[in-house]
Amino acid sequence: MIRLENLTVRFGGLLALDAVSVEFTAPVSGIIGPNGAGKTTTMNVLSGFLDSKGGRVDVEGTDLLSLSAHARTRWGLRRSFQREQIAEDLSVRDNILAMTDHSRASRADKRADLERAIEFAGISDILAKPGAGLNTYERRLTDLARCVVGQPRLIMLDEPAGGLTRDEAAHLGDLILGINDLTSAKVLVIDHDVDLIERICTETLVLDFGKRIDFGPTRSILDNPAVRAAYLGFETGAAADA
Ligand SMILES: Nc1ncnc2c1ncn2[C@@H]1O[C@H](COP(=O)(O)OP(=O)(O)OP(=O)(O)O)[C@@H](O)[C@H]1O
Ligand SMILES: [Mg+2]
Repeated sequence: MIRLENLTVRFGGLLALDAVSVEFTAPVSGIIGPNGAGKTTTMNVLSGFLDSKGGRVDVEGTDLLSLSAHARTRWGLRRSFQREQIAEDLSVRDNILAMTDHSRASRADKRADLERAIEFAGISDILAKPGAGLNTYERRLTDLARCVVGQPRLIMLDEPAGGLTRDEAAHLGDLILGINDLTSAKVLVIDHDVDLIERICTETLVLDFGKRIDFGPTRSILDNPAVRAAYLGFETGAAADA
């Protein structure tokens, strides 16, 4: 269970999040909404990049906002960004290994964890490549492998399918669905690819101008006229057609 209560973020005169409350219970849940809706801001509050003015975040009984950003990572928070945070000069293997730096696990356990993540993401043939040499898809897979090491409890993916082909996005979707089996972590996904969200997210939160417009089973929220209206003029694909 991931419960957000009254999250509020203001940038000068702009209310980026306006008292947003929601409770996600599914293994994989989505956050959708037009550009500037507050989706990334929500993840920034959860990860500790931004402070909410008041409010609370409870994840499986942990008061997340009371922990420092560093402590949240140690607790098991993982995140991928709209622009990946892959170190350009490190190999894929070292990029993933860096995520276990904070872990107190033994070397053998870290190694096993690394191998599991590599196998999960299917990236054994690019392990020696430097980050700078990766294409978009390889970066996303590496990012995903980084998220599943070190016993994660909450994994947040910000537009994981952005810039991918349909087939690549579909495969990434399969992997995201497999995260919960591999790690037992809950997953939150932001994406503009509504087909992907519908396929992998049981529940979805819709934001627009920092406000919660709807929340519930993904199919039913996509049928909501207010949700469709929020997308008009922004997306010509499934959301606008739905
Ligand atoms: N650090 C910041 N300073 C000022 N304004 C910001 C900052 N970060 C975000 N904003 C503004 O807050 C609003 C919400 O931004 P956010 O990045 O959460 O949108 P988003 O839903 O992730 O959009 P997108 O789909 O384009 O990624 C936007 O109007 C954005 O311009
Ligand atoms: Mg964003």
